[in-house]
Amino acid sequence: MFYHVPAMLEESVRGLNIRPDGIYVDVTFGGGGHSMEILKRLKKGKLIAFDQDEDAIRNVPKDKKLIFLNQNFRFLKNNLKFNGIDSIDGLIADLGVSFHQFDEPERGFTFRQDVPLDMRMNKKGQVTAASLLKTLDEVSLAKILYDYGELVNSRRIAREIVAARAVKPLTTVSDMINAIGKLAPPRQEHKFYARVFQALRISVNHEIDYLKEMLEQALELLSKDGRLVVITYHSLEDRVVKNFMRTGNFEGEEKKDFYGNLIAPFRIINKKGTVPGEIELEDNRRARSARLRIAEKI
Ligand SMILES: C[S@@+](CC[C@H](N)C(=O)[O-])C[C@H]1O[C@@H](n2cnc3c(N)ncnc32)[C@H](O)[C@@H]1O
Repeated sequence: MFYHVPAMLEESVRGLNIRPDGIYVDVTFGGGGHSMEILKRLKKGKLIAFDQDEDAIRNVPKDKKLIFLNQNFRFLKNNLKFNGIDSIDGLIADLGVSFHQFDEPERGFTFRQDVPLDMRMNKKGQVTAASLLKTLDEVSLAKILYDYGELVNSRRIAREIVAARAVKPLTTVSDMINAIGKLAPPRQEHKFYARVFQALRISVNHEIDYLKEMLEQALELLSKDGRLVVITYHSLEDRVVKNFMRTGNFEGEEKKDFYGNLIAPFRIINKKGTVPGEIELEDNRRARSARLRIAEKI
């Protein structure tokens, strides 16, 4: 069974500008597609790879240049320190879920099958989508749906969820669809459910908060001219990365020095970001929302 098809493999690994003796980090190992390409380019160098999902362990090759850590990338700095590393030459993050996670019905990421609402990337995590739907108040639910799903009728959806759960807990995909199905715009049901499920997934896995924590640590760890390479899959995530690369903060607030020069932590390598080409998309439609951003530490 195949695990994942990496997006923009060649462009992203080239973006790391790999030195054969350098130290690199892949914070989202998954099926190891990006990691294998990095390993091929290393001689004396090292690759440290992270994935919080224990299923990724099955893809780890035997290679002395590789250290794999079954950890959340929010603990990047401490884990590197534990392994005697205090500076790195490049870091790649290919965010979101793997095809494997999405396609395994029991992981509960899909709305295409009637499965339990789980969505944990780390199977040992305490909070599932079902438990969020049970415990969050209406205002918090609406906020998640609006912030992470960009759903304009988020308050209405939250109200329907709260009304439905008063009758029966929402624990499966069909419970959810029964609760909010009437709000799905005709002929756009898939898009609607995809956004609702994206919002829940981001929330269950704290994706935006942990991304921010990781980026701040990456900036500290990267040596001068070190590369930060990030592939995002939705606009919210992309905005965080874009702002951070440009200004060093998540709001995109420009800070200037005494002489009025912009204080920027990175040199941006591809200003607008890179998206997959036609040929890649013909073979891998799922990469269609991917955007690759590359920056170099100043
Ligand atoms: C899109 S896949 C990466 C695929 C990989 N680049 C490849 O070529 O196969 C994202 C992976 O990152 C992992 N992941 C997401 N957020 C994480 C986090 N905060 N800490 C550690 N791993 C994370 C997921 O478990 C998933 O396996």
